[in-house]
Amino acid sequence: MTQQPSPFGDISVETFLKEYWQKKPLLIRNAFPDLEPPVGPDELAGLACEQDVESRLVIQNQDNWELKHGPFGEETFAELPENNWTLLVQAVDHWVPEANEILEQFRFIPNWRYDDLMVSFASQGGGVGPHYDNYDVFLIQTQGKRRWEVGGFFDQNSPRRPDLPVMIIPDWEPENTWILEPGDMLYIPPQVGHNGVSESDDCMTYSVGFRAPSHAEILRSFTDFVGEKLTSESRYTDPGMDLQDNPGQIGPEALQQVRDIFNRYLNDESQLATWLGQYVTDPKYPDLDQEPEDEISLEQIQGALEDGDLLLTRNEGSRLSYYQLADDKVILFADGTSFECEGATCTLATSLCQNVNIVINQGDWSDQALQILVSLFNQGSVYCE
Ligand code: SIN
Ligand code: CO
Repeated sequence: MTQQPSPFGDISVETFLKEYWQKKPLLIRNAFPDLEPPVGPDELAGLACEQDVESRLVIQNQDNWELKHGPFGEETFAELPENNWTLLVQAVDHWVPEANEILEQFRFIPNWRYDDLMVSFASQGGGVGPHYDNYDVFLIQTQGKRRWEVGGFFDQNSPRRPDLPVMIIPDWEPENTWILEPGDMLYIPPQVGHNGVSESDDCMTYSVGFRAPSHAEILRSFTDFVGEKLTSESRYTDPGMDLQDNPGQIGPEALQQVRDIFNRYLNDESQLATWLGQYVTDPKYPDLDQEPEDEISLEQIQGALEDGDLLLTRNEGSRLSYYQLADDKVILFADGTSFECEGATCTLATSLCQNVNIVINQGDWSDQALQILVSLFNQGSVYCE
């Protein structure tokens, strides 16, 4: 494997993954020395006024915290107090293609673990308060200053203020405090308490957030996926049943048969991979319509290739991943759908997952590959400039 460029300065990506990822916080001074943030305060406020964009405002008044959900009208911003508030906008990478450049630095983590890029703007004293998240996050300071207080592991049973609309850890006592300046980055693992307080009136933080399905979500989703394909005749059976002393007993052989039923479905690698791939590439906002206005056909793409190469770009909001079933067999996943690829088509799948753009030349791709491209285009997972 090639040596990855590291956003962690002297610490290699390999060392970061081994010693810090999911384990302990890490502060990197000047991780992004030449960062030109693609979104500033005005653009962020503009996004927060859009219907489809997920945004919130957190306003602190001494010991009280108020939460408002967007979309906001301009009057909301005009009425804000001078200090102690923050605006947070989710999935900025979906709306601002240039924001994806920052994410390229984090591609050493599998696509499917990535959630979104959240951007916040805070006035002096603004922040969301001491809390923990169940996800890994890289917090990049892009302008102004923020004091980050970090420390302690928390979970669902930890005390929290019951009277507030946001999670606030009471009696917060950080173990470390760092002031982040533009270009600095802080990694926070899941469940580690953190509190970011703006120390300027122009504080902007980019949060590269990851996600991990809970066990409950995994089990529910997989069993739904398998269950939907089964007929009601696929059932527990017990021919040759042994006579038992007490009709009330559930015997060990019943338990074993149930275990065998689970194992039968779990051991079907193709099915398990198909479920996982579809599940983890499901769009973040399934109700958003990302399909193109006009669908294309295989003949159209073949015709277009006669006129020259095509440059395909992965949709900014799309999730693409693949699973290698065998040497020449790959399942490609795109926004909750799956495509079985064989032979040379596997290269299409792996290149699409690896690169933001791919060039399609006439003659290089089989009809199977082109047909997959047509489907990806028509479902809005890729677009053509
Ligand atoms: C932020 O305020 O920008 C980050 C919020 C967080 O700590 O998750
Ligand atoms: Co947080």
